[in-house]
Amino acid sequence: MRLRKKPWARPTLESCDFFVINTQEYIGNWNKVFDNSNEIHLELGCGKGGFISKLASSKPDINFIAIDIKDEVLILAKEKIEQEYSLKNRKPTNIKLMAFEIMLINKIFNQYDRINKIYINFCNPWYKNHHKARRLTHPNQLNQYKKFLSLNGEILFKTDDAPLFNDSIKYFEQSGFKINYLTWDLQTSGYEKNIETEHEKMFLEEGCKIMFLIAEKI
Ligand SMILES: C[S@@+](CC[C@H](N)C(=O)[O-])C[C@H]1O[C@@H](n2cnc3c(N)ncnc32)[C@H](O)[C@@H]1O
Repeated sequence: MRLRKKPWARPTLESCDFFVINTQEYIGNWNKVFDNSNEIHLELGCGKGGFISKLASSKPDINFIAIDIKDEVLILAKEKIEQEYSLKNRKPTNIKLMAFEIMLINKIFNQYDRINKIYINFCNPWYKNHHKARRLTHPNQLNQYKKFLSLNGEILFKTDDAPLFNDSIKYFEQSGFKINYLTWDLQTSGYEKNIETEHEKMFLEEGCKIMFLIAEKI
């Protein structure tokens, strides 16, 4: 479903304490932004924020950064984050939200940032051969992430799309990752830490199976 343009979204986001405006200013210094040395986990393509709001509000000792390119969804993520933290009577001090083009991610993170986990949930499958380099799991992207992902850091990847999943298994292996966990059906896999995303809910209602893997940087 296409979301309508929301011209008011950007000023509202910019007045939010946990929305980062000058994204490139903090390269190599993300721990200073959080004012602590806790681990940092990243969600790429957070959409409406259902996943990150639940995860971050339940893990106060980890810092989270959620990125998406569209203000129309980021504004919904902002609201979800506020709701989830308020339900838990907490302030959203361990989360930052930002609008950024993930293809250019090395402009905002470098080796000094040492990110411990990256979540990629239901990214666009980009089927055409000449578009595949835009996949968030493409080796071009994995090689960018490797620069700031810590050694033994993990990428957790979920999709409903079998061709993308099959190709991504090869992408991870080619790019120096070890796949430590893999399932073709997350719901029956017994994996207990799953948090459902908005797209996951929609695909499950349509009867699709969800594929999931955890790849470690070695
Ligand atoms: C299919 S949605 C999935 C959203 C959410 N992760 C979920 O599972 O419900 C993909 C999201 O990734 C964002 N996205 C796709 N490519 C991106 C890119 N290159 N840079 C930043 N965001 C991107 C889109 O704007 C969209 O919100």
